[in-house]
Formats: sequence, structure tokens, C-alpha cells
Amino acid sequence: MGMATHEELFKRIEQLKKEKNAVILAHYYTRDEVQQVADFLGDSLALSVKARDIDAKIILFAGVNFMAETAKVLSPDKKVLIPVPEAGCSLAESCDAAEFAKFKAQYPDHKVVSYVNTSVGVKALTDVCCTSSNALQVVESIPSEQPIIFAPDRNLGAYIQKLTGRDNMVIWDGACTVHEEFSLEKILELKKQHPEAKIVVHPECKAYIAEVADYVGSTAGILTYCGEVDAEEFIVVTEAGILAEMRKQYPNKTFIPAPPMDSTCGCNECRYMKMVTLENIVACLEAESPEVVLDEQTRKAAERSIVNMVNIK
Ligand code: 13P
Ligand code: SF4
Repeated sequence: MGMATHEELFKRIEQLKKEKNAVILAHYYTRDEVQQVADFLGDSLALSVKARDIDAKIILFAGVNFMAETAKVLSPDKKVLIPVPEAGCSLAESCDAAEFAKFKAQYPDHKVVSYVNTSVGVKALTDVCCTSSNALQVVESIPSEQPIIFAPDRNLGAYIQKLTGRDNMVIWDGACTVHEEFSLEKILELKKQHPEAKIVVHPECKAYIAEVADYVGSTAGILTYCGEVDAEEFIVVTEAGILAEMRKQYPNKTFIPAPPMDSTCGCNECRYMKMVTLENIVACLEAESPEVVLDEQTRKAAERSIVNMVNIK
């Protein structure tokens, strides 16, 4: 297509969506222009639920691989397209399924709670999935005397452990490189410059960052908080893609991205989320490929843990 403008690509995508009965689901961390072509924009939990319920022949998932896989697990009869299958996730990669199986074998009495940021292989070893939106609820749905393995995010795990006071949780030692990169020093410097600003933090960040937060929550939780709280300025400690939606929803408020440790650039981005572009969405819809394909045995094995999650009210 050469050097098509955003306007031309927007038009082409609209045409293709109609022609093919396709919907686009996008995560808040994708590029601004990608968020603009989404039929549904959300956090990991909302996107999982939407993937299960949506009425369309094709779902194009603008996000990273594990999200598209989750959509396919929940909607096996739909064609699930992923423009860039190489768009992985540092957190999902920090938990290899074979290694996790060995780890799990050491704790035969434990129930396994895994963040959705995992491969289908890890989900198959999981009793119930969670996201950053519902991790507390999921852990609290398990009787307090029941020991738990929490995987793969050590920061979210430690945060939930602190909130619940549960001492029977073993936590897999994984992390998201994007969220672990934020600099406390730089956040405190920003706070000095903007003393009225509220600090909002994703729970994938390290504990010493969460400690200075006015609010800790998922991307959807942060968005809601910014609307409800009586404040004009926010220091945003999560992937910078969320700023587009914040500025759209609250045009009269000011959002300041928190910088990572060793960078002079003002914000922190997930390179995987940014791999999805308007160009590769067009190509993917035109070719109806790449498509997420899971063998039925793997899909079935992973399904239970995700269904258990979406069923927790
Ligand atoms: P949410 O659970 O807020 O969607 O964020 C998870 C995440 O990091 C997605 O990559
Ligand atoms: Fe994975 Fe972190 Fe990127 Fe989210 S921000 S997709 S957890 S690498």
C-alpha cells in the first residue's frame, strides 16, 4: 500500500471490517491510531470477557500474543487474527510451562492462580486465572486455609499478599520488564514539580513504587480513579499507551507519564504492544492471516482456568 495516510488506512480498515464481519479488540497500551480503529478498547479482563461474548465471524486482536490466544480459547469457533504473532510479553516469557510444571510439582497441595499474561501451556497448569483488575477478588475467592501458587508476576503477587495478609502463597519469580523499569527517584522529582498530582501505579511495578502511590490498579481501574477523584493532575506509572484514552476521557485534566530509570525520553513503552500498526492490521484483515491456531487438547486444557476466572462475580 506504500505510504498511505492514517485517514486512508482508517477507511480501508472500516471497509474490511464490514466486508468480513470482523471486529477489532485493542488493549490500552497499543498505539493511539490503533486504539482509534478498535470496536472495543479495554484492559486484559474486559477484553477476555468481550472475546467470549462478541458476535462476529472474525476477531482481530490488537495486542500481544497471550491476549489473542485467550480470545481463541474462549471463542474457538471464531477466526482470531493477530497481526504480529511475534508480539510476545516479557512477563509471559518469564514463566516457561515446563519449568512451571516442575515448580508446581513441589507444591502438590496448592491451588494455582495465574495472571492471564501466560502461555496456554501455563494456563493448562492453572486452576484459575486472574488479571490485575480482579487478582484480589480471585485470591479471596479461595478459602484462606488453602495454600496458593501465584504466577508469574512477583510484584502483583507480593501486592496481593500484602493486601490479604496471606502467608500461604508461593510466588513465581517473574516480572514485566516495562513496569519494573520505573524510577522512584524520577517519580519523586515529578511529584516535587507537581505537588498536587496524584500518583497512579500499575501493580506490576515494584513494591517501593506502589508504596508512594495514591492509587494502585489495573489500566481500567486507573482510568476510573482518574475520573472519580477530585484532582487535576496525575503522574501515570504504567505503559504510556494509556495516556491517549486518559486525555480523551478527561480532556480538562493533566496526565504526566512517569519515566523509566535509564532513559532521557519522557515515558515508558511496551515494544510488543507497539508492534501492531494500521498497516499490519490492514494486511492481516485482507489475508485473514496470521491466525491463532490451537490444537483442541491444549485449548481445552487452558479453557477451564479462564472460564473459572470470568465466572467469578
Ligand atoms: P491490565 O490488566 O491493566 O490490562 O494490564 C496488564 C498488562 O500489562 C497488559 O500487558
Ligand atoms: Fe507484557 Fe509488560 Fe508488555 Fe504488558 S506491558 S504486554 S506485561 S511486557
